[in-house]
Amino acid sequence: MKFVILYGTESGNAETVADDLVDELSADNEVESIDMTDAELDTLTPDAFFLVVCSTHGDGGLPASAVPFAELLDAERPDLTGIRYAMFGLGDSSYETYSRGSERIDERLAALGAIRVGEYGRHDASDGSLPNDTALEWARDLVSTLDDVAAVA
Ligand SMILES: Cc1cc2nc3c(=O)[nH]c(=O)nc-3n(C[C@H](O)[C@H](O)[C@H](O)COP(=O)(O)O)c2cc1C
Repeated sequence: MKFVILYGTESGNAETVADDLVDELSADNEVESIDMTDAELDTLTPDAFFLVVCSTHGDGGLPASAVPFAELLDAERPDLTGIRYAMFGLGDSSYETYSRGSERIDERLAALGAIRVGEYGRHDASDGSLPNDTALEWARDLVSTLDDVAAVA
């Protein structure tokens, strides 16, 4: 399977999560990770499954590296029919806007026709766990679900 990990970060946590997801998935799959800042419309191809990893900054805002991607989607409004993705948000539940930055990307993708698959993964910086551990557990569950779907299809 081809995975593209699309990450949006401000202080680097989502990038290290993306790096660990590449290590985890690349034994059995074709995997690349792309900073949202570098994403272009032709990054969004239906032959790949997207793992979108995005933090929240400001007061429920996007992390800096996700801003150009959000602006690109808003300006170009591409038809994302046929695109499948899963979401993992990094945040801190001590904020009322817990994980809202990732939800802002999720809302844009869904509004343009992409389909979100699986559990919406979240890491809470308040709970003392490492985002990388939570994300790897989430990804393993997700990939086993995708394998089940592929086996039935
Ligand atoms: C200045 C600042 C503002 C933040 N604002 C929010 C917020 O509004 N909502 C939230 O859920 N988390 C918030 N967080 C927590 C971050 O999302 C969390 O630390 C995350 O792991 C950062 O990931 P990153 O390094 O990939 O940007 C904030 C963190 C900082 C340092």
